[in-house]
Amino acid sequence: MKAEIIYDSFFGNTEKIARAIGKAFGSAKEVTTYKADAVKLDMLEGLDYLIVGSPTRAFSPSPLTKSFLKGIPSKQLAGMKVAAFDTRIAMTDKVPGFLRFMANLFGYADKPILDSLKKKGGQETVPPEGFFVLDSEGPLEKGELERAAAWAKLIKNA
Ligand SMILES: Cc1cc2nc3c(=O)[nH]c(=O)nc-3n(C[C@H](O)[C@H](O)[C@H](O)COP(=O)(O)O)c2cc1C
Repeated sequence: MKAEIIYDSFFGNTEKIARAIGKAFGSAKEVTTYKADAVKLDMLEGLDYLIVGSPTRAFSPSPLTKSFLKGIPSKQLAGMKVAAFDTRIAMTDKVPGFLRFMANLFGYADKPILDSLKKKGGQETVPPEGFFVLDSEGPLEKGELERAAAWAKLIKNA
């Protein structure tokens, strides 16, 4: 089994989730975790699983994540199992109402990432997932690393 977890991260929160997913997914020999700007196209060859995650920025994946996804040729992910995740602000009462409204309307990074992976031939495994930060720069909400590990196991069993 060969898997890659690809992430972007400004403040380290998405990286922590990516590494928790990688650790739960398999051994260091089977699973590698890279920041999106370190990935060359030939590194995507022969993978069984590709999992991509991004911080949500303006209701979308980050610019680096978008350019990484855009650079994957169509059909490159044929036969590969894929999954997508993001990190996002926990929409508590502290978040202004109009922002909560906009987030409801325009969503998060996870679904566009999965759509893009599927467009390149990837095979969907589990629904995309969002992991919560308490503020823009973090920290992650309590229990999110454990939830990430559990989500990784779901992908393997899908
Ligand atoms: C410019 C900017 C835009 C953001 N836009 C959103 C957003 O639309 N929805 C959301 O839930 N969080 C938003 N956030 C919060 C980020 O999702 C949060 O900073 C990120 O999850 C932290 O992950 P990182 O440490 O890996 O960068 C935004 C943060 C910044 C700085």
